[in-house]
Amino acid sequence: MGRTVSELISSLVGLWLLLCSWGCPGSAELRSPPDKIAIIGAGIGGTSAAYILRQKFGKNVKIDVFEREEVGGRLATMKVQGQDYEAGGSIIHPLNLHMKRFVKDLETQSGGNMEVSLVLMTLFPFCIHPLLVWCLMAIFLLFKRIYRYQSHEYAFSSVEKLLHAIGGDEFLGLLNRTLLETFQKAGFSEKFLDEMVAPVMRVNFGQSTGLNAFVGAVSLSCSDSGLWAVEGGNKLVCSGLLQASKSNLISGSVMYIEEKTRTKQTGNPTEMYEVVYQIGSGTRSDFYDIVLVATPLNHKMSNITFLNFDPPIEEFHQNYEHIVTTLVKGELNSSVFSSRPMDNFGLGTVLTTDNSDSFINSLETMYSVRKKENPQPSTDGTYVWKMFSPETLTEAQILKLFLSYDDAVKKPWLAYPHYEPPEKCPSIILHDRLYYINGMECAASAMEMSAIAAYNAALLAYHRWNGHTDMIDQDGLYEKLKTEL
Ligand SMILES: Cc1cc2nc3c(=O)[nH]c(=O)nc-3n(C[C@H](O)[C@H](O)[C@H](O)COP(=O)(O)OP(=O)(O)OC[C@H]3O[C@@H](n4cnc5c(N)ncnc54)[C@H](O)[C@@H]3O)c2cc1C
Ligand SMILES: *[C@@H]1O[C@H](CO)[C@@H](O)[C@H](O)[C@H]1NC(C)=O
Ligand SMILES: *[C@@H]1O[C@H](CO)[C@@H](O)[C@H](O)[C@H]1NC(C)=O
Ligand SMILES: *[C@@H]1O[C@H](CO)[C@@H](O)[C@H](O)[C@H]1NC(C)=O
Repeated sequence: MGRTVSELISSLVGLWLLLCSWGCPGSAELRSPPDKIAIIGAGIGGTSAAYILRQKFGKNVKIDVFEREEVGGRLATMKVQGQDYEAGGSIIHPLNLHMKRFVKDLETQSGGNMEVSLVLMTLFPFCIHPLLVWCLMAIFLLFKRIYRYQSHEYAFSSVEKLLHAIGGDEFLGLLNRTLLETFQKAGFSEKFLDEMVAPVMRVNFGQSTGLNAFVGAVSLSCSDSGLWAVEGGNKLVCSGLLQASKSNLISGSVMYIEEKTRTKQTGNPTEMYEVVYQIGSGTRSDFYDIVLVATPLNHKMSNITFLNFDPPIEEFHQNYEHIVTTLVKGELNSSVFSSRPMDNFGLGTVLTTDNSDSFINSLETMYSVRKKENPQPSTDGTYVWKMFSPETLTEAQILKLFLSYDDAVKKPWLAYPHYEPPEKCPSIILHDRLYYINGMECAASAMEMSAIAAYNAALLAYHRWNGHTDMIDQDGLYEKLKTEL
């Protein structure tokens, strides 16, 4: 008598919560979610982290994404005579499953079709080499394991542990050896390495076969079909994920991060991170429970100072390569390239070899990012060409390659780390609730690597917040998941 239904329900809920505090049957214990999360950088790493964190922590968490330049970061387009072309990351491999899933999710939400196939763009002749095909298949079969672990929500606290969980000591050891010595040991000839492998390394990483075998193998991920890109530009995945994650974009430059004790509305003193950023000519700051850094941490690139951390958060001295993208619409002087061993295969792609005295790393014809409207790379006989070079090209240099040209646009990048094995990877956990996504670039720099690292960091942040240590750094996961399914 006198007990209302709602009182009854609330006492049942109370009993449930009490039981749960001793170990909730069938579901993991969850602490209440954080109030605010900061992500620094709105490239593919930062935006995919925002997307996953929203799924894990739910709708009430406030997620701020800081970006001082443009959403997309190293995924960007450049205009030549009214058309947009990819200037940074451009090719996506069919086995890049996170990129694939993000695009599928975004397509479901928008009702449009974002994916366009690049089948015609590059047909790498080295795909034919059976030994190489075998090596690369092995790498990708191993790679599939990480998707499996992540779909079961397992996370790793370091890049080394993640790679080890994929393929053991041997796989991790690829970081310690050069591509050259690895392939020589596997029986490839000097000539094959010089003429087929080295040029691809120069296009993809502006470096030779002296880089680590892991990044080498990832960038040799040739495929005679299934390479793709995003209609309208790959950066659309970043803006799409940002929007889908319902994050708040702050167009500012983060300067400092400092841990401080704050008293929250609940009255409890809590350790939080103060993020100080510059917006316009003013300086502002805000407090966060969790911070993810989704940009390379070095002075030239992110220039973020970690104030008063004990022990101090180390500066990473990873050196990023300076690469300039130049797009030229013009008529190539093809006789300049006729002596090269690899000219004009696929659709007009020209790669240069290491021993050439060339001032460019590579040259290729480009499609505009609106491939559906412009299915041909050219309509008037002059193509748009993309060149990568270590230095900004002068007009005289461009005129050495082209008989004539109408337009040339340039964009400099600090593109990817200078690889030199043995690689030592930066930490993912910089401090209690402060995570670093781009340390993964020590192994290889690619869109999918950033997505894998972001996924891992988001799961790691979530499990550590909830004290789920059984979901972190599990050994023998492959065997365990095999028997589970
Ligand atoms: C020329 C070139 C060609 C490439 N080709 C390919 C390819 O074909 N396929 C492929 O898979 N990959 C390719 N890549 C690599 C790929 O583009 C990158 O690995 C990937 O885009 C990196 O994404 P990210 O989000 O980790 O970093 P970024 O894209 O660099 O994002 C970091 C963001 O953080 C912002 N930021 C930095 N500091 C601050 C701060 N203090 N405050 C606020 N914001 C800050 C930056 O402005 C930037 O937007 C290429 C890269 C380049 C440069
Ligand atoms: C790689 O080399 C480092 C030393 O540079 C060593 O500590 C580490 O154990 C090596 N890792 C593997 C898997 O060989
Ligand atoms: C890095 O930031 C500091 C202020 O936080 C500024 O004085 C300095 O010029 C910046 N350096 C670079 C290379 O941008
Ligand atoms: C084209 O390049 C070749 C080789 O460098 C050069 O000899 C020739 O003069 C160039 N042609 C024109 C029209 O500039």
